[in-house]
Amino acid sequence: MSATLSLAVLVSGRGSNLQAIIDACRSGRLRAKILAVLSDRIEAEGLRRAEAAGIPTIALAPRGYPSRRAYDEALFARISSFAPELVVLAGFMRVLSAPVVEAWAGRMINIHPSLLPKYPGLQTHRRAIEAGDREHGASVHFVSAEVDAGPVIARVRVPILPGDDPETLAARLLPREHALLTATLALFAERRLEWRPAGIHLDGCILDRPLELGADDRWLPA
Ligand code: GRF
Repeated sequence: MSATLSLAVLVSGRGSNLQAIIDACRSGRLRAKILAVLSDRIEAEGLRRAEAAGIPTIALAPRGYPSRRAYDEALFARISSFAPELVVLAGFMRVLSAPVVEAWAGRMINIHPSLLPKYPGLQTHRRAIEAGDREHGASVHFVSAEVDAGPVIARVRVPILPGDDPETLAARLLPREHALLTATLALFAERRLEWRPAGIHLDGCILDRPLELGADDRWLPA
């Protein structure tokens, strides 16, 4: 059995995805350890969740840094001090500067509430409804310099139902986001997933399209 996967998790707000990771580690479903939780917002509920779980926290406000890059370098210097194998952006609401992203290429993932490449950016639930889409979802992807545009590892789908508004749709999607993020992390923990310049590899084979998580929390056949 290979060693436990070590993580640093970045949050800006509520931290329900962080909580899902904490719960999955506790239950033994995920062989991972969160070394630290970091936030750009001192008041982030996610920091409180980490404290409650006994995980070291760092709140670093961007104010006072002369540039985005200076802030990002300070934040990632803190992250590096923990030497995590993987950085997880779980509701981290800042765009990271290219040098930092490049330094962590293949070692940083993000969860985004849309079926990427559809709807990068904000207001994804509203945009999916307004477009008349019949389904929506979430994606876990490697972080690249362009926002929400890095290689997609895995996705999960939910239906858009008549009468949905952004709140009802977000509420349907959120538990599926949690399942997607923890299931994807489990693949990393089992050492089955790997980023290579040629593409994402699963079990040593190139992944030619994103994995899809089914309603029963199992990966659908390719
Ligand atoms: C989630 O919808 C996630 O996909 C997006 O931001 C939200 C964060 O929620 N990136 P939480 O802070 O994990 O509850």
